[in-house]
Amino acid sequence: MFGNRKAYEVKEGVVTLFFEKGIGQITPYTDEIINVFSPTMCEEHRSKAIEGEKKAGIHFSVTERIDHLEITTAALKVCVYDDFKVDFYDKEDRLLCADYRGDRKFGMAISEKCLEFLRAEGHDVPEQSDENYAVQVVKKMEGDECFYGLGDKTGFLNKRHYDYEMWNSDNPQAHTDAFKALYKSIPFFITLRRDCVYGIFFDNTYHSYFDMGKEKDDYFFFGANAGNLDYYFIAGVNMPQIVKNYTYLTGRTPLPQLFTLGYHQSRWGYETSADVRAVAAKYRDLDIPIDTIHLDIDYMDQYKVFTWNEQDFGEPGALIKDLARDGFKVVTIIDPGVKLEEGYAKYDEGIAGGYFAKTPEGETYVNAVWPGDAVFPDFGNPVVRNWWADNQKYLVDLGVRGVWNDMNEPASFRGELPEDVVFTDEDQPTNHAAMHNVYGHLMAKATYEGLKKYDGRRPFVITRACYSGSQKYTTAWTGDNQSLWEHLQMAIPQLCNMGLSGLAYIGTDVGGFGADVTPELLSRWVEVGCFSPLFRNHSSKGSTRQEPWLFGEETLQINKKYIELRYKLLPYMYDLFWECEKTGLAPMRPLILHYEKDEEAKNENGEFLLGSKMLVAPVVEQGQTHKMVYLPEGVWYDYWTGEKKEGKNFFIREAPLDVCPIYVKAGTILPNYEPMHYVGEHELDTLILDVYDGNGSYIHYQDNGEDFGYQSGEYNQYEFVILADGTLTIDLLHQGYDKLYKKFIIRHKGHTQEFAFTGKKLTIWL
Ligand code: GLC
Repeated sequence: MFGNRKAYEVKEGVVTLFFEKGIGQITPYTDEIINVFSPTMCEEHRSKAIEGEKKAGIHFSVTERIDHLEITTAALKVCVYDDFKVDFYDKEDRLLCADYRGDRKFGMAISEKCLEFLRAEGHDVPEQSDENYAVQVVKKMEGDECFYGLGDKTGFLNKRHYDYEMWNSDNPQAHTDAFKALYKSIPFFITLRRDCVYGIFFDNTYHSYFDMGKEKDDYFFFGANAGNLDYYFIAGVNMPQIVKNYTYLTGRTPLPQLFTLGYHQSRWGYETSADVRAVAAKYRDLDIPIDTIHLDIDYMDQYKVFTWNEQDFGEPGALIKDLARDGFKVVTIIDPGVKLEEGYAKYDEGIAGGYFAKTPEGETYVNAVWPGDAVFPDFGNPVVRNWWADNQKYLVDLGVRGVWNDMNEPASFRGELPEDVVFTDEDQPTNHAAMHNVYGHLMAKATYEGLKKYDGRRPFVITRACYSGSQKYTTAWTGDNQSLWEHLQMAIPQLCNMGLSGLAYIGTDVGGFGADVTPELLSRWVEVGCFSPLFRNHSSKGSTRQEPWLFGEETLQINKKYIELRYKLLPYMYDLFWECEKTGLAPMRPLILHYEKDEEAKNENGEFLLGSKMLVAPVVEQGQTHKMVYLPEGVWYDYWTGEKKEGKNFFIREAPLDVCPIYVKAGTILPNYEPMHYVGEHELDTLILDVYDGNGSYIHYQDNGEDFGYQSGEYNQYEFVILADGTLTIDLLHQGYDKLYKKFIIRHKGHTQEFAFTGKKLTIWL
């Protein structure tokens, strides 16, 4: 396609290669991150994922070789050949990743006659294509590749031999492995081989395609219908370093407010404020900890965004204020579709400002969502984002503590928006084809900015649709799953892959959104939800209600046990988010992230790590009361019994309905809070440390859990060290937050000791 190389030049850190039929550019961003670019559509990157200057201004050298150009950084050697073929080597000259030199070998096309038969019986017939994509990169498969990441795709952890698409989609059918796309487009994957690991981020917002060796085992590829050839090759010594580099580029999940890490209850179908009040009261009556209640579309007046349904929800804000007195925080849903109704302020303002997407003929584009005929804010326009951000004030003034952005693929009931619907890309017109995959991302960004401006605390935004980089602004959930065991099983690889894709703050609808949950399924789901960053029980109108007390005493007690456990572990979860802001590592991690040489971890779909210290092995099959557990290398302790286990072993753990097997690594010091009903109920002046034998250290982080003061040093950091001889030390590393812990409670092998703390180093003999 590019032909032979004619010349090259190096200017401002960019190597430009002139080929017979086009130009290619290689830009080392850091020693480990290399951008490969060709302006197949426009001169600029126009990235929606990468913000700010990420080029570190590193030194690199460029050397002309007989048949290629060699670009060398401290970590990588990039060889560029004719036809813009690019190969990457590490500094020991080991090949990491090479472009495939042959042509793609398309599969057998299905005949029209055969397709007719398939359609006749109602089969979904995939589009047949034996053409290369407008933009396409084909990489040689070396043999033992496993692929991880790619956002919220269905199926198992390892994506080898599957193909996917990036086109944000709201498909209400039960999600299965056959789905090519769901709500999010995260065009980033990690390739793991026995002797190396690297990542590729294809920063192209158009409908794109990823084939991880399905078409042929000789190669894998990514391509798109339009846009630039624009990808980043990301190297690193191990998987955590790849994630760190990817999130250096696209941003990291910032530290959330502490309460958001507690438990959330939601339902589409709380139709009156009385209903919501009753649910909240029941939680308190039953002593089940909970912080947050979500109001779905029912709270709005005729599903008009930024309005209040006074008839069923009373005076605007009264419900929120009453709940707040009892420790509840309220999150409200906001969809992008603005009801087409003259006289409705948001519609009128948007029309007056020209804020909505238009047809190519210049008319406001109309489709339908919950309010009926609706129009779609043009979030690619910074003026529209500011307007949207300002609209958050209405919610903040009512006392709302978080905003849930839904339907922002964007979903539309009268068919998908045509590709030529006119949108804006910052300073220039563009179309739906270009903006579709970033629509939810930009909506969440606007929401974040608005909450930050009007509330001032760390914004809590939840979104359904995402693009790479959304993690800077928002948490996300996996959309409309169903109360199916398969969906509980899928939750583990799906959440783990999202975490590897930079989206750290994520969760599923616990219990399942659609279909009817069984007591057993809800119990097992809470045992997974307890460890997922976003822990929210949510369900659909028309399905069985899902509050924990509706299924008998046993289910109630199991829900309570795991929600209480979540609250005990809040400081651990919060520490993981503090770490995430520095490293990009999500709290919920696949085993492979920390044990990448372990063959068993490569395809481990039934277990996950919480941080690096805890391993969770939930039962996700109906009727099972035993779990085959695999522990990677090292010594582990059973969380419930304290039993010592040697790693690199499979064994069977009894797991009756109320037991989720959990293991803690030797040498761990696990911080816990004392029981609470909600964050803010009482001062968190005591920290409990569960100490597990071995050598280890742990950094614990503490702040006010709400505002941005931590960014200017208003936090405390403690270091706990345990030595194999049984010495434990507690030391203050940083003091910037005025509320130091007053007391530490040490638990070790069933013994409990208490120590007052004044800021001076404590040395304890266990
Ligand atoms: C969508 C959301 C779901 C929500 C419903 C009604 O289906 O995914 O969570 O409850 O819309 O707003």
